[in-house]
Amino acid sequence: MTSESNKMWGGRFAMSPAEIMEEINASIGFDKALAPQDIRGSKAHAAMLADAGIITKADAEAIIAGLDKVAAEVAAGTFEWKRSLEDVHMNVESRLKEIAGTPAGRLHTARSRNDQVATDFRLWVRDQIDGIDAALKALQLALAKKAEAHAATVMPGFTHLQPAQPVTFGHHLLAYVEMFARDRGRFADARKRLNESPLGSAALAGTSFPIDRHKTAADLGFDRPMSNSLDGVSDRDFALETLAAATIAAVHLSRLAEEIVIWMTPQFGFITLTDKFTTGSSIMPQKRNPDAAELTRAKVGRIAGAFQSLVIVMKGLPLAYSKDMQEDKEATFDAIASLKLAIAAMAGMVGDLEPVPDRMRAAAGRGYSTATDLADWLVRELKMPFRDAHHVTGTIVKLAETSGTDLEALPLEAMQGVEPRITKDVYSVLSVENSVKSRTSYGGTAPQNVLKMAQGWIACLELGSKTG
Ligand code: ARG
Repeated sequence: MTSESNKMWGGRFAMSPAEIMEEINASIGFDKALAPQDIRGSKAHAAMLADAGIITKADAEAIIAGLDKVAAEVAAGTFEWKRSLEDVHMNVESRLKEIAGTPAGRLHTARSRNDQVATDFRLWVRDQIDGIDAALKALQLALAKKAEAHAATVMPGFTHLQPAQPVTFGHHLLAYVEMFARDRGRFADARKRLNESPLGSAALAGTSFPIDRHKTAADLGFDRPMSNSLDGVSDRDFALETLAAATIAAVHLSRLAEEIVIWMTPQFGFITLTDKFTTGSSIMPQKRNPDAAELTRAKVGRIAGAFQSLVIVMKGLPLAYSKDMQEDKEATFDAIASLKLAIAAMAGMVGDLEPVPDRMRAAAGRGYSTATDLADWLVRELKMPFRDAHHVTGTIVKLAETSGTDLEALPLEAMQGVEPRITKDVYSVLSVENSVKSRTSYGGTAPQNVLKMAQGWIACLELGSKTG
């Protein structure tokens, strides 16, 4: 610890901060991740200051060239971060001073760290949203391709995790393609609202200098400047909204992860994963564990936790900036990194997994899964009201259960004992293949529907359409 006060703001300070003050105050340990965005924002600000005649062109050139040097040092890993300089903004500016001399001192004209950090963080979150969108799209494509290959592979569909009605594996996978499409939509919505520039809000009240906020906004790829300087420095709902979208996407990932875990058990045996996506046990030689799926399932904890953590930081904060807001970054950084890892791991697993159609088909036929088909047949062929058909079918299922057989194997006479008008035609609806084939309603599980949907998605995703 030095005995001088902070050289960036210490004019009225005679002493250096207490060691513990410096420790709690400094954010450089994590906000150095914002250096590229910080430098980008500063370059735009310097260029605008010169254009507006607030600083000279020569000063702006010296600042911009100096910032490029700083950026190169950061990229090369040679930049020396100092905790005594608190945060990324002051570390960058202090190094700029060493490189560019006096002009560096003019960079902070008409600007505050409050609008600076709000700008940097927005730019960072925006970049991350773009990366997440691309990753989710790659996952959708992996799912759609697997779905296309297995449009007709029959498996049990479950409700309450009890066998319900047969579906196809492709249909099941496409359900996740839909979820991830909505996730991409949520991120895209967040991006739209996020894409306004806080730069030029200054500390909180704006500035008396004739700055051009439209110019810096455009330079940084924002749609427009934010309209209220108090809001500009104190809004963090762009991060909250992104974390909310991340939480929902993580929930979707965790559901698929859980299914992979279940399908991988020997009791189900619906899928296999290769050595690439499984691990062994150090004691039980027979084990093959789906660790990546388990970890994907677990990542929701951190991601939902980050959302919760920022909600609590922001709750009840008076306008405008408070140092509390410095706590917005670590959890967000961690949540976004976790989400990106989970999406990539899931895309890898989806590509790697292979269904075991025999096991799926056998399971699909168990649990009287075509009972609804029987009831529907009674409605269609015998014009029975559905409620009565449900009752008759229930009695037939009970009969099959007591005689220890499937519906398909139950003799016609046994069924006629319950409802004499039943004919041998009924067997045409009792096989799982015919059951799925009959589900041709829009969005239903019929293999022809599933194939069409899968191919539609693949075409859409490969053409690079934003939401599809
Ligand atoms: N490190 C700070 C943060 O992350 C930057 C803004 C500091 N502003 C201030 N007035 N002390 O929020």
